[in-house]
Amino acid sequence: MTPLEGKNVVLGVTGGIAAYKACELVSRLRKAGAQVYVIMTQHACQFVAPLTFETLSNHPAVTDTFARPETWEVEHIALAKRADVFVVAPATANILAKMAHGIADDMLSTTVLATKAPVLVAPAMNTGMWENAATRENVKLLRQRGIRFIGPEGGFLACGDTGAGRMSEPKDIFAEITNILHPRLDMEGLRVLVTAGPTQERIDPVRYISNRSSGKMGYAIAEAAAKRGARVTLVTGPVSLSVPEGVEAVKILSTQDLYDAMTARCPDTDIVIQAAAPADFAPATVAEQKIKKQGDGDLVLTLRQNPDVAAQVGRLKRPGQVLVGFAAETNDVLKNAAAKLQKKNLDMIVANDVTAPGAGFDVDTNIVTFVTQEKQETLPCLPKTQVAEELLDRAMMIFQKQKR
Ligand code: PMT
Repeated sequence: MTPLEGKNVVLGVTGGIAAYKACELVSRLRKAGAQVYVIMTQHACQFVAPLTFETLSNHPAVTDTFARPETWEVEHIALAKRADVFVVAPATANILAKMAHGIADDMLSTTVLATKAPVLVAPAMNTGMWENAATRENVKLLRQRGIRFIGPEGGFLACGDTGAGRMSEPKDIFAEITNILHPRLDMEGLRVLVTAGPTQERIDPVRYISNRSSGKMGYAIAEAAAKRGARVTLVTGPVSLSVPEGVEAVKILSTQDLYDAMTARCPDTDIVIQAAAPADFAPATVAEQKIKKQGDGDLVLTLRQNPDVAAQVGRLKRPGQVLVGFAAETNDVLKNAAAKLQKKNLDMIVANDVTAPGAGFDVDTNIVTFVTQEKQETLPCLPKTQVAEELLDRAMMIFQKQKR
């Protein structure tokens, strides 16, 4: 018996070219034994014929043609109740806006509003639409309400642009559906401490030194660990992401704040994962007033070295504890990473070349090499959510080994 045998998946398909990929998703779900009920918006019907989904799902595809208004009420409530999981793939900016604001003006938006099942959304749209402030706000609202997202991925889009907006691959959406219906709770009871984001080092009341870390890597790790049952504390620099469900957040600004937060918490933790990008240097003095220009002269700032948080966490390491760090490199990536593994007393370091396209700061993907005393393993370019799972798999292996 497969994990999806007998499960009811309601799949909402909206109007985008990625609708053709939803056919493969239906096929995978059916092969895994799930019952799939497809709801298509009118625009979706312009891209793929309902007959395709009907044939693949073996159920009528519900469309927005209002062909059978007498069954409307019954149908949307029935499907909303029947769903073990509700998936919207592809999800346009339009359906995200409707979901965020409770608009129910067609079969899909009505049914998704009525459901109590977990909802997974796989956005697909032009990069400009994805990055638009309205869409950003809608996504934030939906995440805060517990709606799960997968993707979008970066790459070449059907409209000719290159950027974020490609729907995640059907195999990844399938894996996420399986995960929602059968969460892997292999980290249940473990205490996990994760760091994410940049630090800010004040120069004067209006200026600071910082870097381009968005927090995406660390937040993905915190979210994945929480879903796997861990009690997660996320020590986070200033970023614009929402704290994942079930995660305790500790907000910090400077590397010294990070040091204080981490040294206080690491003794009570089983696994520590440091994905933050703390500033190595801070202004030696912070001006009390905004620094003014002095004629045409240059401004010379003296920077002092910040504490190395990971190195101190390494000194405090207790037996059985697993410490994972990251190495953000621009040259001699593996050599530098191996040196940091030693210096910071880590069990594993995740090396990323932050100059490689699709890797490092701010993007949704990463290209990493897991470096331990024994081996080095390089993964292809993957969504940060998937890198997070791979990282946790390896951290768990080290944890189990140390327990033996
Ligand atoms: O946040 P994103 O936009 O998703 O980008 C992800 C990332 C590029 C920030 C992430 O993948 C990453 O590489 N994080 C580590 C960044 C960094 O500071 O690397 P580093 O090589 O300078 O530091 C090595 C390790 O020591 C890191 O675990 C770092 O958290 C830690 N460190 C560094 C300096 C310092 N003063 N104290 C520390 O604890």
